[in-house]
Amino acid sequence: MKIGVLISGRGSNLKALIDACAKADFPAEIVLVISNKENAGGLDIARAAGIATKVVSHRDYDTREAFDHVMNDALLEAGADFICNAGFMRILSDWFVAQWHDRQLNIHPSLLPAFKGLKVHERVLEAGCKVSGCTVHFVRPAMDEGPIVAQAAVPILEGDTPETLAARILEAEHGIYPEALRLVAEGRVRIVDERTVIR
Ligand code: GAR
Repeated sequence: MKIGVLISGRGSNLKALIDACAKADFPAEIVLVISNKENAGGLDIARAAGIATKVVSHRDYDTREAFDHVMNDALLEAGADFICNAGFMRILSDWFVAQWHDRQLNIHPSLLPAFKGLKVHERVLEAGCKVSGCTVHFVRPAMDEGPIVAQAAVPILEGDTPETLAARILEAEHGIYPEALRLVAEGRVRIVDERTVIR
């Protein structure tokens, strides 16, 4: 499978995917990394791994669709047939999501469907949760919604701050994202009634 990765920042999940793809038996290859921010740290990670990169700044386009069309063209030109969002912080247009239906994964740092959106760890701690975690799911038009491929639960510890919790969850993210991508790339994930069935 030829993967395009969308990022906006640090790129630690991108790094986990790059490391996984470097394994001889991993059934996917990253062909392009797109960032909507030119100073995203993930761009350096991609370049160091010899992967093609492209910056598409949303500020250069009047509409979400115009921005998404440029990304879509770049992905097709690079030969991508699947997308992984890895800390990509823009909402995608319905048009783009439809182009990549069942061919786009996202990772989110909560146990979805709980705590969609931003400031997740703050809200989890505020709610007094004892467990949080992360989710890899197929992308649908509604933000942070779609069939779930993998989740990891992470305990919340006494004295956790949003930062300490985020760091512990991030480690779990780096485990489940490559695992989820492998399952999908091996053709072991079917979507039935908007839920996944994993063989
Ligand atoms: C990750 O925690 C990811 O789950 C989150 O942004 C971080 C990106 O870190 N994504 C979202 O919140 C998307 N809704 P990274 O750039 O180091 O991979």
